[in-house]
Amino acid sequence: MVSSHDFIDDKRNKNIKIYINGKFYKRKDAKISVFDSSTLLGDGIWDSLRYHNNNFIFLKEHLDRLYKDAKLIDLKIHLTRKKISEALIKTIKINKMKTDVHLRIIISRGIKSTPYQSPKVTISKPTIIIIPEYKKPDIKTYKKGLKLVTVKTIRGPINVQNPQINSLSKLNCILACIEANKKNADEALMFDINGNIATNNSTHFFFVKNKTVFTSTGKYCVTGITRQKIIDLCKKNKIKVKEKNFKLNEVLNADEAFCTGSFAGIVPVNQINKKKYSLKKNPITKELTNFYNNLF
Ligand SMILES: Cc1ncc(COP(=O)(O)O)c(C=O)c1O
Repeated sequence: MVSSHDFIDDKRNKNIKIYINGKFYKRKDAKISVFDSSTLLGDGIWDSLRYHNNNFIFLKEHLDRLYKDAKLIDLKIHLTRKKISEALIKTIKINKMKTDVHLRIIISRGIKSTPYQSPKVTISKPTIIIIPEYKKPDIKTYKKGLKLVTVKTIRGPINVQNPQINSLSKLNCILACIEANKKNADEALMFDINGNIATNNSTHFFFVKNKTVFTSTGKYCVTGITRQKIIDLCKKNKIKVKEKNFKLNEVLNADEAFCTGSFAGIVPVNQINKKKYSLKKNPITKELTNFYNNLF
């Protein structure tokens, strides 16, 4: 099995320094309180971005999403965007990193006086963590492609647990992932509440039919940065692209399918349920991969 997040093991990760609320800690000492909102309730948000060839990839877009998601869960990040950017830069500098880095930013609502949901018992500023790791996507993933499987766990409605938010409460995605893994698949293809295909458990989903690229409306997906880049690249390069509702049978009749995410970019799909897709005859996936890789 492969996954959209497979990476080449890198021994340097043993010695990384992790940012917690302005200070840096060795991997084994990077700890937060058991009373943190993240530990107690999964109450917070997160984002992941790459640092490649001395550059943060799509930093503005990642910060936009981080602050948008914070607002949606009524979490006031006490640091400005400039300060968060400075914290990211400091993290890279202190670790003397140059390329092939994947950073995870986690912002929880902060420490609580007691295990209870209400933000009223939060007694600190938000907890801010930045974990930088050397993670180079494994080339095997692109060569082999991903096997997807449809699962019973669906994407919920906006007014239950808004699936557009990159929240720390990832249970919905985790349960879908577990179901997929039990079916020997790499990633779960998830339906929305109306029986349309929405997205995957950790990446976004696209398919190609008669040279047109399709993806879901985005209503039931995490706001996807790579997803939006692909849509923009299609428009710029005169490849027809449509965001719309579609059912599984359309996908099973597709010519190509691929997944997208900040970590691995575009990863071709080799199979969905029993239907196989050729990784030799997927010209649009290849073309978009080239366009995408030329963005940074
Ligand atoms: C459920 C889910 N889908 C898709 C993605 C990929 O989004 P992006 O392209 O912004 O990395 C993520 C990543 O955070 C995710 O958690």
